[in-house]
Amino acid sequence: NYHFFASLPSTNRTAKELARQGAPEGTLVVAEEQTAGRGRLGRAWVSPRNCGIYLSLVLRPAVPLGMAAQVTLLTSVSYCRAIEQVTGLKPMIKWPNDVLLSGKKICGILTEVHAEMEAVNYLIVGIGMNVNHQGADFPEEVRPVATSLALEAGKTVDSTQLLLAFLACLEADYDRWLSDGFGSIREQWLARAAGLGRPVQIVAGQRQWQGRLASIDEEGALLVTDTDGATHRVYSGEVSIRPE
Ligand code: BTN
Repeated sequence: NYHFFASLPSTNRTAKELARQGAPEGTLVVAEEQTAGRGRLGRAWVSPRNCGIYLSLVLRPAVPLGMAAQVTLLTSVSYCRAIEQVTGLKPMIKWPNDVLLSGKKICGILTEVHAEMEAVNYLIVGIGMNVNHQGADFPEEVRPVATSLALEAGKTVDSTQLLLAFLACLEADYDRWLSDGFGSIREQWLARAAGLGRPVQIVAGQRQWQGRLASIDEEGALLVTDTDGATHRVYSGEVSIRPE
């Protein structure tokens, strides 16, 4: 169930409208540009034509609400696998879902959950992939922290090939997650984890604290060891990897 658009305000918004009208599992919305792309924490996601891939998927996993966040981790693993297959580059993941190359962000994932009675009704997984951006295509304030596959590979990347590779990886990872649980996804996530063992700063709401990045647990929560050696589970927040 594919929907391609030359231009949309936001693929997440359109996917949500389709989901509300009963769109089936796997419905895909792709736009060549977005005029009101949205990021996490209410930020904008600038989405110019001929630069990125902007897509949203409707998923309807029959799982408890507590497992919804695992889909975001799973999506970042699938996108890393697609990048590896198509470009040979080796991306890393910063918890929960930032895919990085050379320490800079290469894509953004925005998962929106619609739940009923503590169970997932549907999820909208939105992904903005920085594919063929040149430096000037990024808003000035994100230039120091953003990059694209073309900038990293030193050549233009075939967007269609990348999109197809990503969808194939995601379908395989999603089916494995539904049948076997988070275990195998967790291993793949940890194999690409950025900053394991490094000092980190966690910002969660009003609270800021520092620790050392230990791992993720069997459910996808981040495990951070504090200066007293106690390990804490982090379920949401922003992580910055700090110098030693
Ligand atoms: C982030 O802040 O890192 C998440 C960015 C997510 C952007 C994508 S682009 C496709 C989809 N549609 C949107 O409006 N947002 C997501």
